[in-house]
Amino acid sequence: MSHPRVEAVAGEARAAIDRAASSAELEGIRVKYLGRSGDLTQILKSLGALSPEERPQVGAAANEAKRELEALLDARLEATRAAERRRQRERERPDLTLPGRRPARGVVHPLSRVRDEIVTIFTGLGFSVAEGPEIETDAYNFEALNIPRDHPARDMQDTFYLSPETLLRTHTSPVQIRAMRLQKPPVRIICPGVVYRRDADITHSPMFHQVEGLAVDRDVTMADLKGTLDLFAREMFGPRSKIRFRPSFFPFTEPSAEVDVVCFLCAGAGCRVCTQSGWLEILGSGMVHPQVLKNVGYDPEEVTGWAFGMGVERIAMLKYGVDDIRLFFENDLRFLSQFA
Ligand code: DAH
Repeated sequence: MSHPRVEAVAGEARAAIDRAASSAELEGIRVKYLGRSGDLTQILKSLGALSPEERPQVGAAANEAKRELEALLDARLEATRAAERRRQRERERPDLTLPGRRPARGVVHPLSRVRDEIVTIFTGLGFSVAEGPEIETDAYNFEALNIPRDHPARDMQDTFYLSPETLLRTHTSPVQIRAMRLQKPPVRIICPGVVYRRDADITHSPMFHQVEGLAVDRDVTMADLKGTLDLFAREMFGPRSKIRFRPSFFPFTEPSAEVDVVCFLCAGAGCRVCTQSGWLEILGSGMVHPQVLKNVGYDPEEVTGWAFGMGVERIAMLKYGVDDIRLFFENDLRFLSQFA
């Protein structure tokens, strides 16, 4: 039923379909022969111009060729598309032989580490951890600690006041008061926490950390304080570490002492870090003032106690040789990763 005019076009189309290497090419062929102005469509559209004898022959042949080419194209398209999808999957397949990406491992922040170390040393001695609020009242932060309203000691502490009666605590010492008001002696507590002062330079930060220690019982003496801090220093700074007491003043202790540890860089010989003195100051301490014991309802004739307070940043700076306190708060991974 073929016709030479139709066969010329159909033969050409079949050969093109045969050669086509992609679905895009096949779509192009469909347009060229079967599209609205395609070669075969043109033949079908111009049947009217043919003679009555030729018309049915060409018409039948063209319709048959159209069905044949459509079927051919569909079959080839399906096969090429499947091959193309296979190739695409192949390209996108993950390479399971590539090395994996290791998750970055974090480190404990040096301040958390030093704080935990301090707390662990004291809990090992039987102290328990006590905490208090960062927003304190004037009564707990100053008054109960024997620092009255017009006491010159308040000049030592540049305070962030929230109202005339509330403030950001300037030290962890108010936790002593809270703990003693909650329990009867014996008391042995260690109080880590954040404190605030209006102060900022390379050794002072407006927000920093302290650890407070307190022991109250019958017959507690300054010798107990010294023995405890001596052990602390050896645990914290090494077995050959030594401490010394220097007379000092705090309104909430009497007598008061500042405690130095022998410089672990020069072992006491004198260097730049200890400003040639051979000693580094690490904390303030003393025997709890009788007035403070009275303020919490304890009888100073019956019990005595000692207390100390130290700065975590200061200890960390000394221990790790950090010369700028701001490094602890910048969260620069190049700094922090050194404490792995
Ligand atoms: N509260 C003091 C400060 O922030 C530190 C201190 C000194 C705490 C002597 C004490 C102490 O418990 O007995 O500077």
